[in-house]
Amino acid sequence: MPAIILIGLQWGDEGKGKITDFYASRADCVARFQGGNNAGHTVIVNGKKYKFHLMPSGVIQGKEVVIGNGVVLDPSVLLEEIEMLRREGIEPSLRISDRTNVIMPYHRILDGAEENLLGDKKIGTTGRGIGPCYADKISRFGIRMGDLIDEQALREKLERVVPIKQAMIDAFNAGEKLNAEKIFREYAEYGRRLKKYVTDTTLYVNSLLDEDKTVLFEGAQGCMLDIDFGTYPYTTSSHPVAGGASIGTGVGPKRFDKVVGVLKAYTTRVGEGPMPTELKDAVGGHLVEKGKEYGTTTGRKRRCGWLDLVAARYACRINYVDEIAITKLDVLDGLKKVKLCKIYECDGEEIDNFPSSLAILSRCKPVYEEMDGWEKTEGIKNYDELPEQAKDYLNAISEWLDVPINIISTGPSREETIM
Ligand code: GDP
Ligand code: IMO
Ligand code: MG
Repeated sequence: MPAIILIGLQWGDEGKGKITDFYASRADCVARFQGGNNAGHTVIVNGKKYKFHLMPSGVIQGKEVVIGNGVVLDPSVLLEEIEMLRREGIEPSLRISDRTNVIMPYHRILDGAEENLLGDKKIGTTGRGIGPCYADKISRFGIRMGDLIDEQALREKLERVVPIKQAMIDAFNAGEKLNAEKIFREYAEYGRRLKKYVTDTTLYVNSLLDEDKTVLFEGAQGCMLDIDFGTYPYTTSSHPVAGGASIGTGVGPKRFDKVVGVLKAYTTRVGEGPMPTELKDAVGGHLVEKGKEYGTTTGRKRRCGWLDLVAARYACRINYVDEIAITKLDVLDGLKKVKLCKIYECDGEEIDNFPSSLAILSRCKPVYEEMDGWEKTEGIKNYDELPEQAKDYLNAISEWLDVPINIISTGPSREETIM
């Protein structure tokens, strides 16, 4: 299975980091294809916790890692992660695409300023400058890694773009004064430090596939945060869907062999935007506390609710998912009853396709199928040892999605996994 795409099927934080680490043991290379340091991927090995924002999670397994052209890269964050790994005795074998767009200080300023202007209609972004950086890429104002390592190009691009950004900051009343020379000095230094990693990664990744090596494409965020297919405008600004792996690394669509969808056994979401199965009761509280549902990147409390299979079925279709890795089953341990939402009810009608209109979505009420809960799945490593009720729950999910569940995660550590 040489080219495997691993993506989140919900609103992010499905446990992609853990499952990527698991798959990475059998891969030669792990590549990120979209998003930036809005992501927070947790990997726990031998009791040690690693949180990655930019570095592909496969780095812990000592694999080759690639940051593809579809990513937006904050150099200071990447350099910190490289340092953190070195302190752990890991020297990453990293390649960064020369086409990757760079997050600049004005992107972070504008991210905050836009959110302020939106007030109570804000998106609840991570504040990392993601949206403004992708906007610049599309508007062709972007500074790419290839420019960062070419001082002449960096200077020229900054001369062109900084006055425009200053005008925007002034118009937004954000009160910040940009200093082009200071930005140049800081970013030229990042360029010098990162230069050795920057290359045409399309050559590298395609050559690995030519040699029948295995490349794992690690998604960030999740399908429901996709700029086109998610709950727009309450989304991120990239393509976390499987299709993003092609465009975000320069690997043709026909080369991919498999799509793995990571699905949390319930639903969570950080930031604003609709979430039909959100629970504000004691069960919601149980999920937050037992699931330790606090953001890996911003520390914000995640909104929690029952598993939304309307959204998941839509995600399986959009991504043509071959197999599901289900995570955090153990978090449902101890609940007397568990519920699945297979359809919504809207204006007296049943809806089974996830609507694109937020106005319709906001009127959708989940229709639940209730099932018996179970005592304990935590730490179980063998399918046969799972309680019958947990097996019934998994079978109901797999049947409704018409996709096999091949991995079941029963705890945060690498070994708490059932194949
Ligand atoms: P990602 O962004 O999709 O990589 O997910 P995050 O790392 O942001 O959030 C998932 C959280 O759940 C992390 O703290 C993981 O350590 C933890 N986790 C992953 N799988 C499991 C599991 O099966 N059970 C429990 N209890 N925690 C898990
Ligand atoms: P991982 O990879 C969960 C959410 C933010 C906000 C919206 C837009 O760890 O699953 P942005 O900063 O991207 O412009 O914010 O997207 N968001 C995430 N939610 N997990 C993530 O990443 C996320 N990355 C962004 O909370 O609602
Ligand atoms: Mg996360």
